[in-house]
Parts: sequence; structure tokens; C-alpha cells
Amino acid sequence: MPTKTINNLEMHYLEAGRGTPLVLIHGFPLDARMWEAQLSGLDGRFRVIAPDLRGFGRSAQAGPFTMRSLAGDVHDLLAGIGALPCVLGGLSMGGYVAMAYATRFPRDLRGLMLIDTKHEADTAEGKENRRKMVELARTGGAQAVAEQMMPRMVAAATRQNNPACVSRLRQIMESCPISTIEHAQLAMCDRDDYRGRLASIAVPTLIVVGDQDAFSPPAVARAMHAEMPGSTLRIIADAGHMAPMEQPGSVNDAIGEFAAGC
Ligand code: MLT
Repeated sequence: MPTKTINNLEMHYLEAGRGTPLVLIHGFPLDARMWEAQLSGLDGRFRVIAPDLRGFGRSAQAGPFTMRSLAGDVHDLLAGIGALPCVLGGLSMGGYVAMAYATRFPRDLRGLMLIDTKHEADTAEGKENRRKMVELARTGGAQAVAEQMMPRMVAAATRQNNPACVSRLRQIMESCPISTIEHAQLAMCDRDDYRGRLASIAVPTLIVVGDQDAFSPPAVARAMHAEMPGSTLRIIADAGHMAPMEQPGSVNDAIGEFAAGC
């Protein structure tokens, strides 16, 4: 796994292929390994880059962060490895980071992909649930967090027919450091609300959602699509929140077709 030191922080990333940089930002509590099927499926056409965000995967920890600072880390990494401008997307929390990137670095963006994510900030109940998750992480560790989230992460068909996907997902989730779980929950709690602001993002945008996503459901994807008249919406059949891992063929087709036109 290549490494680059950015602002005194060692950042790790996975990379495959050549051509237009296609950057994929993982969700919570995940890391770059969630994009293995995109790295191996899209590397014939693009330079696919999947960073481990600060504190996640093999990247170093360095205290609290925000969605905007994570976007800054990604931008610095991409500048450091000569991968700008890029087509950039993220899943869920990675989508929050991608929206922050789009507003901070519009000139270094060729296209934006919002995958199983949402533009709305947290409700009061959502914020309370994050406080409870921090408690759960402190008492039960990443295993307890994975156990709680798992039933809502994938579609019923994935649970029944794709044990390899489920066990890989669990393995990634259970390896997330407890302090990173805390920092990420606080950062997501304080994230920006992009409702009413998406239309100002001028680059081509692809919105992808699993038809059974329980965290960021298709209705939210449709609302984002309605705010961005030029955007493309792809709803992935038989997928939950982890559509890129659950249905890599359909997701790679959607990403490949979109990125080729950026
Ligand atoms: C994720 O999947 O990245 C998170 O569950 C998103 C969130 O907690 O808002």
C-alpha cells in the first residue's frame, strides 16, 4: 500500500491503473479496502485511487478532524501524487467529504459522485444516536459498533446469498480504531447541511444508491437529484448501503460510464 506524508501525517492509499484519476472515499467505520472491486474492475480505464482517511485503515491518527479537514487531507494527498484534477466520489461519510471537497476545491474536480450518501445534516435524534455510538465504542469497541450497524448495512439478498461480502465488511468495520470512531461521530454530528446548496456545484455529478439503502434511502438520492438538474441518478437493484461491495458490476458500470464522460 503506497504511503505519502501530508502535513506531517502518514496517509496510505490503494492505487491501480492509469489515466484520468478516479478517487473513491470510504464510509464509516470503513477504509480503502471497501473499494477493492472498483480498484480491480475500473483499473483498465482509470487511475483509481482510494485513500485511507486520517485515523482510518493504515493512515495515522492525529486527533479530531472535520469533514472539511478530511477533504483538505485528500486534496493535499492528490496534489502530492500528481492526481489533480480528478473525478472524485465517496460513499456515505465519504460523500460528506466529497461534498466538502467540491465546495473547497471546485477547480480541482472534473466530476463528483455521491454514493449511498445524503445532503441533509443530522436531526436531533441523529445527533443523540451518535453520542450513544461513542459510548458503545468506549464500552464494547469496534466489534459492538459493527454488530449494531451490520443489520442495516446490506440488503437482505446480500445477507442471504453473499457471505463473503458480509464477512469482508465485518472484518473492515471491526478493525476501526475506537478513537477514530469517536472523532468521526463528532465530525459527522457537526457536518454542513448541503440542502439548497447542491445546485452551486458546477461539475457533472453522478448519484448512486442501493434500492434498499437503510441509512441514505433512495428518497434522499431523488431529493439530491432534484436539486441538481444536470445530475445522473442510478438506483442499484438488490443493494443496501454498501452498493459498491454488494453489486460491484452494476456500480462499476455506472461509475465507468460517468467518469468516461467527465
Ligand atoms: C457511513 O456509512 O459512512 C455512516 O454511517 C454515515 C453516517 O453515520 O452518517
